[in-house]
Amino acid sequence: MEILDSLYQEVEEIVEKYEQEKTPLLAILEEVQEKFRYLPRNVLGYIAKRLDIPSSTVYGVATFYSFLETKPVGEYVIRVCKSTPCHVRGGLNVLEVLKRELNLREGETTKDGKFTLEVTSCLGVCGVAPAMMINEVTYGNLTEERVREILALYRR
Ligand code: FES
Repeated sequence: MEILDSLYQEVEEIVEKYEQEKTPLLAILEEVQEKFRYLPRNVLGYIAKRLDIPSSTVYGVATFYSFLETKPVGEYVIRVCKSTPCHVRGGLNVLEVLKRELNLREGETTKDGKFTLEVTSCLGVCGVAPAMMINEVTYGNLTEERVREILALYRR
């Protein structure tokens, strides 16, 4: 109960920080996710109540954006771009390498809670396709070898 109280307290502080803004929802969701790594359903309900908007709206926004997570994720979330420019330049191969290296399928998290593997649409860096993101860091010009090198950095 105490843990739950402190969770809501932290969410409340974030809500208070943005609630006067014209469209506070996305900023709140982003900051809550930064804090908890994902957006638990009960927290989404709390935010809806506080902003006085339907919880279906909050949930709809939380599930619309690929950078928002509604399920628990690993310490490092890998997002592989699957849009056409990346796809034609080997995006799919990047995904296959990651699946093999991490022994994961799309949407899964390693047992040690370290990596979650996801696919996403354009990351906005098509000039360096194929690309992926690991948390906030974008990596481009990916080859099989480079993917392995990058993974090694995060495995340490
Ligand atoms: S298509 Fe992959 S970054 Fe744009």
